[in-house]
Amino acid sequence: MRKFSFPEKGLPQKEAYHVVKKQLEPDAHPNFNLAVFATSEMDEYATKIINENLAVNFPNATQYPNIAEINQKVALMLADLWNIGEDDSPWGSSTVGSSEAIFLATLAAKTRFQEQPKNLNKMPNIVFGANAHTAWYKAANYQGIEIREVPVRHGKFSVDASDMESYIDANTILVVGVAGSHQTGYDDDLISINSLLEQLEQINGWNIPLHIDAALSGFIYPFIRNDYVWDFRLSKVMSINASGHKYGLVYTSVGWLVIRNKAYIPESIIYKIKYLGGEFEQFTLNFSRGSSSMLAQYYNLLHLGYDGYLAKSLSTIVKAHYLVKEFSKLDVFEFVYPALFIPMIVIHVKHNSKFTIDNIAQFIQKQGWHTAVAQLSFDPSYPKIMKIIIRDSLTTEMLENLVSCFKLAINSLTQG
Ligand SMILES: Cc1ncc(COP(=O)(O)O)c(C=O)c1O
Repeated sequence: MRKFSFPEKGLPQKEAYHVVKKQLEPDAHPNFNLAVFATSEMDEYATKIINENLAVNFPNATQYPNIAEINQKVALMLADLWNIGEDDSPWGSSTVGSSEAIFLATLAAKTRFQEQPKNLNKMPNIVFGANAHTAWYKAANYQGIEIREVPVRHGKFSVDASDMESYIDANTILVVGVAGSHQTGYDDDLISINSLLEQLEQINGWNIPLHIDAALSGFIYPFIRNDYVWDFRLSKVMSINASGHKYGLVYTSVGWLVIRNKAYIPESIIYKIKYLGGEFEQFTLNFSRGSSSMLAQYYNLLHLGYDGYLAKSLSTIVKAHYLVKEFSKLDVFEFVYPALFIPMIVIHVKHNSKFTIDNIAQFIQKQGWHTAVAQLSFDPSYPKIMKIIIRDSLTTEMLENLVSCFKLAINSLTQG
């Protein structure tokens, strides 16, 4: 008998439900999973919107014209939040997450390059720091684009213009600047990278767009770092992605891609769908997908507004800073990123410690807390780090419990 054969007879609903539920029981509870950024709680009305629209298929713009309209509206609200210029004519869409947004931004850049006769038989390349997310490696590899990975210098956590300069040439279709690295929280030096691209255009005539990967920061920086210039205020920024399901405060799966000018997207990759009656355009990877998360994002923007997102960002950062303060008192950790702007703490154990960061992670996992322990992909000689991601859904009691678990772990590991 094969291990998994298709069930011959169905189970009663309740029984099938319990089989699924039981099987999931050993997994982490999302509220106690501090390894990932995914939103783990939404309010009652957001949940109502989600449940009421589970059956609404996103791309059917002929039958659901308001879905298409809301999708555009939210994207344009984000363009506004990210300081789009008066003379720009932005386009944007929800996606399944930042990964899809990144894929589409890369596809637009590659197609623009390849449609120019002078580039026939030339290999397009993309330039990003070794601190960039896997989504960039996937997007480039899946599309046959040469990856020019810029090393992150030892002791640094991001890249700047001087690191990137020698990697850029006439075949560079896109330069990526990370605004909030998933490994350490730090930004690339976006202002210097933008200036470099301006200079390269003046000197060589290379018009290379800059994409900002704001998966983590797109719903944080506009509220708590208003004066920091990271977005469409930078002249070479052509596109930005952000994950709605992270600090956009929506359940998975929603991301956003905003492009400065719609004309930037080659006509050849915008599909005109006619067979469902009427005609609508598609520039997405998937055909069918849910609408619920996108609608929940719209609800969040309406309900929270600027003030609400500001309040949530601040309260999440305050929670993260409480942990930083408590962890400092323990005197066993070095801070790589003490939740400066992204509500994430990155630590490693001090040199000569009696235990490893893995020991701590394993101990607190037995108490139900999940964290991410890993080697920095771009600097394997750096001590192993632990990432603790803070969400607003963490209550004071939960934070206190987490601190107690850390203390317990340290006491027990020190004695053992
Ligand atoms: C900086 C960065 N870029 C891209 C991604 C991929 O985003 P998503 O999970 O929304 O596809 C992530 C995910 O954490 C990220 O942190």
